[in-house]
Amino acid sequence: MEKMWSGRFSASASSLLDEFNASIMYDRKLYIEDIEGSLAHAAMLAKQEILNTEELIQITDGLNQVNAEIESGEFEWNISDEDLHMGIEKRLTAIIGAAGKKLHTARSRNDQVAVDFRRWVLKRNRDIVEALKLLMKEVLVVANKHTETLIPGMTHLQHAQPTNFAFHLAAYLSMFKRDITRFEDSYKRNNISPLGCAALAGTPHNIDRDMTAELLGFDSVSTNCLDAVSDRDFALEILFNISTMMMHISRLSEELVMWSSYEFSFVELSDEYSTGSSIMPQKKNPDVPELLRGKTGRVYGSLMGLLTVMKALPLAYNKDTQEDKEGVFDAVETAQISLEILKEAIKTMEVKAYNMESACSVGHLAATDLADYLVEKCDIPFREAHFITGRAVAKSEELKIDLSDIELHYLQEIDSRIKEDILEYLVLRNSMNARTSAGGTSTVRTLEQLEYFKNFLEG
Ligand code: ARG
Repeated sequence: MEKMWSGRFSASASSLLDEFNASIMYDRKLYIEDIEGSLAHAAMLAKQEILNTEELIQITDGLNQVNAEIESGEFEWNISDEDLHMGIEKRLTAIIGAAGKKLHTARSRNDQVAVDFRRWVLKRNRDIVEALKLLMKEVLVVANKHTETLIPGMTHLQHAQPTNFAFHLAAYLSMFKRDITRFEDSYKRNNISPLGCAALAGTPHNIDRDMTAELLGFDSVSTNCLDAVSDRDFALEILFNISTMMMHISRLSEELVMWSSYEFSFVELSDEYSTGSSIMPQKKNPDVPELLRGKTGRVYGSLMGLLTVMKALPLAYNKDTQEDKEGVFDAVETAQISLEILKEAIKTMEVKAYNMESACSVGHLAATDLADYLVEKCDIPFREAHFITGRAVAKSEELKIDLSDIELHYLQEIDSRIKEDILEYLVLRNSMNARTSAGGTSTVRTLEQLEYFKNFLEG
């Protein structure tokens, strides 16, 4: 089959080359952006009198027909066409004849692929932001029910201080909100049209780049053509943004896995989003959060892959760059299904508040409160207070009780400055509610945080 670029060649391409060189099997995903890009380009060429009205009508009708053929599944994708740009243009020319051959005036596949892929990435950026907001809404629903539910706050996976479950979830809401703003920042930075840069250096034709930029929804046109046809940092940004989002998701997933173990029993994932074992009939496995953890690694792989493809590439376009798409497609698809299924898993899980609260009664979670009491009420320097509290913890261990249950006389034997009012400080709920500093865990502060995220989602 004759190639579009066959003019300077005498022998035809080997089928091995076709297979190796082609991107059409996967870049066909960009057909909407490719056709929209061509429609805008043709409209601009006509306005600039590079095409006549009749040609514009033919091209527009022809492209709409190609679009319909693709959507109905009739369109034949041929590996020998190399990529979707040439596949679509060839079909257009077969339908409308000579006018089809004029569409590529003042354009190259280099700016064409740059504009198609960039717009696809920008659209998916928007989709992911919407999906993240839906996830946040679901997390917020659960959080609103648990602003008073005690849960052991941990460091090093060891009991540290009592917090409430809503506060814990609000930590993830903070991460997801930052993820959203990261996507939004990328959107603004990258919403710039490379169309009209042609192969690398611009074009002598009297084109209007602002017009195509506006038709395609871009904010402006790129400043330098050499950069615009060869840079792929917009794709790296979505990969990084997805990677960071998945890293956050993996942390929540890890907690869901732990929390659904017998040892924790803080949550139970619904049957709908759990799986069984082929051999052990009693098993109910948290495959969803486990896979979310695993898929995080896969997304990082795509980010590293593209960073490496782009490393040390000389200007401008190089065919290496064709390797930019599959990793991004895969990462976006992974992000979308991950957000959707995590939302459903959270929506349908059972929160075992009683177990969360019971878990607080071990591990001396109120120890810091005793130290704070000694500082605040007895004017003891914190370091000394820390030491005295350590002795109280050791005594509790010896008595095989939690510090929150210790009798007053034991404390007074350790330090006579301790008075009866300490007992209020050692009540775990009081301990949680004592942390009223900005961003703290007290129910009052937690409610403020939930309000903040609610406003963010409504704003
Ligand atoms: N299929 C190519 C890609 O995805 C399109 C650009 C090809 N340009 C070229 N000069 N060979 O990168």
